[in-house]
Amino acid sequence: MLLVSFLFTASAVLAENSLPADFIRCRQKDSGLNACLKTAVPDALRKMKKGVMELSVPPLEPLSVSGMNIEAGAGPVVITQNYKNIRLSGLTDSIITNYKADLKQYRLRTESLTPKMEFIADYIMKGRILVLPIQGKGIANVTMVNLVVKHDLIGEPVSRDGETYMWIRDYRVKFIPKKVYLHFSNLFNGDKRLGDQMNLFLNENSDLVFNELKDAYEKSLSSVFQDVTNKIFNSVPMNKIFPED
Ligand SMILES: *[C@@H]1O[C@H](CO)[C@@H](O)[C@H](O)[C@H]1NC(C)=O
Repeated sequence: MLLVSFLFTASAVLAENSLPADFIRCRQKDSGLNACLKTAVPDALRKMKKGVMELSVPPLEPLSVSGMNIEAGAGPVVITQNYKNIRLSGLTDSIITNYKADLKQYRLRTESLTPKMEFIADYIMKGRILVLPIQGKGIANVTMVNLVVKHDLIGEPVSRDGETYMWIRDYRVKFIPKKVYLHFSNLFNGDKRLGDQMNLFLNENSDLVFNELKDAYEKSLSSVFQDVTNKIFNSVPMNKIFPED
């Protein structure tokens, strides 16, 4: 057992040490570093659709998220929600509209545009929207169209075995969707008439509903983005992600 796990670890370490060969490299001192990253990052996302085993990067299409709880707020939308088995799709179709890398400060700021991001999950919810009670247990579909995401990655250097790695200690996101479509199956214990009416109502008020839920979505997705980013940054020394010459 020990030997097997030792061999496994040793071979994983060897393979882990560099970016996949077909990823675009952007040089640290290149005056066009930001322009290079604008191309390289979405290119890498598409190449990671099925994950990268050597870097322990999970499949990104769809990206699985274990769960998320939203406590009832105090505004017009007071709903306790529990999501499990979350699958996000569409992220790898994102383009980068702006990139600002400040490698000396270990800070990356970027803006992406995702044409369509689907969030599908098992949900349980209970609460009220405006004056209407809502409850259900089924499958949720939250689809964001033309979603602008502002990412702010705040990192710091970590030294290990004579190499410097970049560690993202804080990953902040802001979601600005052009349009949000919501659908919850099996609302009100499967009462179709009430469920259809509620879904209609949710979509007519999707800006209001989304605004109340946005913080929780941002928090939980930013920690997923942070994990994926750190999987790569933690496996590959910084000067192999951003070559120095
Ligand atoms: C989720 O909703 C969007 C928008 O209504 C729709 O295009 C998509 O097919 C739905 N996805 C699933 C899995 O039902």
